[in-house]
Amino acid sequence: MDDNTSQSDHSEPGASGASEFLSSIVIRAVNVKKVYQLGGQPVHALRGVHLSVTRGEYVSIMGPSGSGKSTLFNMIGGLDKPDEGEVYIDEVDIAALDNFELAWLRCHKIGYIFQTFNLIHVASALENVMMPMMFGGITETDARDKAAELLKRVGLGHRLFNKPSQLSGGQQQRVAVARALANDPAIVLADEPTGNLDLKTGEEIIALLESLKSEFETTVISATHDHKMLAASDRVVYLSDGQISDEKSREELEITVGHIGTH
Ligand SMILES: Nc1ncnc2c1ncn2[C@@H]1O[C@H](COP(=O)(O)OP(=O)(O)O)[C@@H](O)[C@H]1O
Ligand SMILES: [Mg+2]
Repeated sequence: MDDNTSQSDHSEPGASGASEFLSSIVIRAVNVKKVYQLGGQPVHALRGVHLSVTRGEYVSIMGPSGSGKSTLFNMIGGLDKPDEGEVYIDEVDIAALDNFELAWLRCHKIGYIFQTFNLIHVASALENVMMPMMFGGITETDARDKAAELLKRVGLGHRLFNKPSQLSGGQQQRVAVARALANDPAIVLADEPTGNLDLKTGEEIIALLESLKSEFETTVISATHDHKMLAASDRVVYLSDGQISDEKSREELEITVGHIGTH
C-alpha cells in the first residue's frame, strides 16, 4: 500500500512535529468516569478506567451486557466525552481538541465497526467504503479504486455493487471492516463485531481483524461478551460494572481457555 504518502500529506492537529517520534502507547485512558442520568437516577457506566494500548496490539474488552464496553468505546473513539479523567490518542488529550480537530481524528485515525454494521442502506458496498475517503478529501476516482481494492481484500470483490440488503450479515460486516480501513487508521475500534453473526462467520471476522495487525499495522480494540471470540487477542481486559476487574495476556489466556474448554 502507499503508506509512504499518507503521513506526510496531512499535518496532524495537536501533535505538532511529534509524529516521527510516536510513542509505543497509542491510546491511554486515565481514570475515565462516566455517569448517565436515567429517569433521574445516576447510572455509573464507567467508574475510573485506566487502560494503555500499545501500537499494533489487539486488545479485547470482555464483559457482560451493561458493563460499560460501549461507553468505553465511545470515550476512546472520541464519540463522547468522559465526565472525569482523560483519553490520550498518540499522547494528545482529545478533550483539548476543537470540533474540527476531533472530526479529523475520527475520520483519519480511527476506524469504527459496530455490532449492527451501520452501513448506508441506499448505497452500494463500494459507495459505503468510498464515503469516509470522500469526507477525508480523496478524489472520487482514487476513492473508488481504493474501495474496490479493500473490498477485494475482505473477500467481496464480486459484491462491489450490491446494497447491504443484498448481502449476508457476514458480508455486511466485511464491508464495514473495509470501510473502517478506508483512511488507513492507526486504530480500529470494533464494538461487538460478531454479536449479530453465527459462530463460524464471527470467527472469520475476528480472523480478518487479526490479520489487519500485521498487514496494516493497525491497533485493534474489540469488545465482546463471547469467550469464543478471544483467540486473536494479544490481551484481554475484563470490564465489570464500569471497572477493569482483570487482565490477561495471550499466554495466560491460552491456559485459561484450556481450562474452560468444556464451557
Ligand atoms: N445514553 C445512556 N443513557 C443512560 N444510561 C446509559 C446510556 N448508555 C449506556 N447506559 C447505561 O450505562 C451502562 C453501561 O452501558 P454500555 O456501555 O452500553 O454497556 P455494554 O456495552 O457493556 O453493554 C448500562 O447500565 C447502561 O444501561
Ligand atoms: Mg455495548
